[in-house]
Amino acid sequence: HLVCPMNTSPVVDPSKPSHEIWEEFSQSFTPAVREVVELARQIPGFQELSQHDQVSLLKAGTFEVLMVRFASLFDVRERTVTFLSGRRYSVETLRSMGAGELLASMFDFSEKLAALQLSPEEASLFTAVVLVSADRTGIEDVSSVEALQENLIRALRNLIMRNHSNEAAVFTKLLLKLPELRSLNNMHSEELLAFKVHP
Ligand code: HEM
Repeated sequence: HLVCPMNTSPVVDPSKPSHEIWEEFSQSFTPAVREVVELARQIPGFQELSQHDQVSLLKAGTFEVLMVRFASLFDVRERTVTFLSGRRYSVETLRSMGAGELLASMFDFSEKLAALQLSPEEASLFTAVVLVSADRTGIEDVSSVEALQENLIRALRNLIMRNHSNEAAVFTKLLLKLPELRSLNNMHSEELLAFKVHP
């Protein structure tokens, strides 16, 4: 099994060599990863960062951006996950295939994010804030990344102030999503590593 919704299906043909399984999986998730690179390019000031820092931020943050972007794949009411192919699977099915705590945490995250009812514009500005985080390891020019993130956070706050009556609560909850995303990222990296070692 490959129980990641970025795949087309969690079921894999056991007779297939593992490099082919990975090849097909990567064809499935590559367009989504390209979208993140595209989003980064559109962040004013991102391309003025050094090539090295752009790559470091993308490497560390792509999963988190995709988590926000694809949170709607997790249907909390129906208890299903829609894979990128459009196929839907129940939590029970995915559990029987090995999904566990991480899947549950992602449902939790998605439910709370959906409750904030962000507009598409707010959601996209939030993903920019997620991507441009100076505390990622290996950043050379921390102060430039910090300055850029501060601008993005200010823009996000202004946007939320215009759109929501409970703006302080929404803004605070969004910022509190940043450490949650970090934690999902760490848990997910372990699943990814484990899969690479024992496909
Ligand atoms: C699990 C890869 C992005 C959700 C996994 C696994 C791999 C993987 C290899 C382990 C599969 C297994 O052991 O069966 C990737 C790659 C990504 C990516 C290469 C980059 C594009 C995402 C995103 C989400 C996600 C953006 C959420 C929207 C999950 C879930 C699991 C998982 C729910 C199973 C968790 C569990 O076992 O409880 N991923 N993933 N992945 N991934 Fe991803």
